[in-house]
Parts: sequence; structure tokens; C-alpha cells
Amino acid sequence: MKREPDCIVAPSILAADFSESGKAVRTIGNTTAQWVHLDVMDGMFVPNISFGPKFIADLRTHSNLIFDTHLMVDQPERYITQFAEAGSDYITVHAEASLHLHRTISLIRDAGKHPGVTIVPSTPVSAIELVLDQVDLVLIMSVNPGFGGQSFIPSSLDKIRRLAEIRADRDLDFLISVDGGVNRDNGRTLIEAGADVLVMGSAFFLDDDRQSLVDHLQGNDR
Ligand code: DX5
Ligand code: ZN
Repeated sequence: MKREPDCIVAPSILAADFSESGKAVRTIGNTTAQWVHLDVMDGMFVPNISFGPKFIADLRTHSNLIFDTHLMVDQPERYITQFAEAGSDYITVHAEASLHLHRTISLIRDAGKHPGVTIVPSTPVSAIELVLDQVDLVLIMSVNPGFGGQSFIPSSLDKIRRLAEIRADRDLDFLISVDGGVNRDNGRTLIEAGADVLVMGSAFFLDDDRQSLVDHLQGNDR
């Protein structure tokens, strides 16, 4: 019998050549990675600018994989409809960027998409406890958002464990995702701590043997 992968691998095209983004999502599709992670940056919430809804809508024509949109945008409630219509499957917003977070998450659900919530490294898990029953995904940022290629911040591991504990205690079923500095060396440790989704930018796109990396993370090489 075919075994289930140990995790969902979500390569981020932030690490790819933007002038060849269609090719980048097809590269992801040529492996057994299940999701495409899309990093939207507004130059306000984070000190970098990436791309918007049209870019995602255009990529949608190149891939049938799950589109996991990560909005690093101030007041993301202004853009939920656009990112839903662009073809996102999951839409994740920062707790730090949305004052009326409960309402923003409801907007994503009402748009027929999977809502996610995320926190930066300096925000404690307690900041999102009251919305955990509303979301399908919680993203633990393991670097300060804004750029790819940074090193994993070790305290993120405890946040994943804490979140997994709360999920079990409260009998909730959101996915736990981790984003920033994830690679071949720390991926399995993150899964053991409770992560279900591993977001990966540079580690994926800089690897010459992407399928072997994905196999290792999914546990297909065991
Ligand atoms: C960082 C982004 C990440 C980024 C991860 O702000 O949210 O998704 O692409 O890149 P790596 O895997 O290179 O740390
Ligand atoms: Zn991201």
C-alpha cells in the first residue's frame, strides 16, 4: 500500500527567478511537493515588495497544485476578495497586521477559501489562541518576514510544540505550517515537533536534486 507523506512540502517561488515564474511553478509540479507558497509583500508590513493578485491569477494557469498565499500586508482585510478571486486556496494573514482579526478570518471563510493566521517570531502563540477554532492553518514564522535565505530562529521550535499541544488539548484540526530557514537538516525535527506543512524557498530552489530533498522531508526515503 502506498504510504501517506509525513508532511506537505510548500516551496516558495520567492526564491525563484520572477521573470520565469511559470517555469518555477512547473518545476514544483515536477516533484511530489503538494503546495505552492506565494509570498505577498507590500513594502509596509515588511520592508520588501513582491507581487499582487494578478501575478497569482496568471500563475494559476500553470499549476493545479494548492496555492498557499501568505499575505505580508498591512490591513489585509482590504485585499481578501482579490486574492480569493486570483485562485488562492489558503489565505494566511498576520495577526500583527489586522486589528479585527476575527472579522478578517471570517472574510476569508466567506470567500470560500481556507483561512490561515500567522505570527512573527516576536509574537507569542497566546496572541492567536482566541482565533484557533476559526482557522484551517497556523503559520509559525521562523524568520522575520520580508526576505528569503535567512537562518531559522530556534525559539520557533517551541512555538510549534506549544501549538501542537493546544491543538490536541482543544481537539482542533488546523494544520501547523512553518516558514523561514527550513531545509534538509531541520525539516524532520520540525515534523517531529508537530509541523504538517514545511514552507521552503531557497533550500528548494537552490537544490540540484529537488525530488530527493522532498523525498527526505516526506519520509519517502525511509
Ligand atoms: C519570508 C517568506 C518566506 C520565504 C522563505 O518572508 O515568508 O516564505 O520565502 O524563504 P527561505 O525558505 O529561503 O527562508
Ligand atoms: Zn511565506
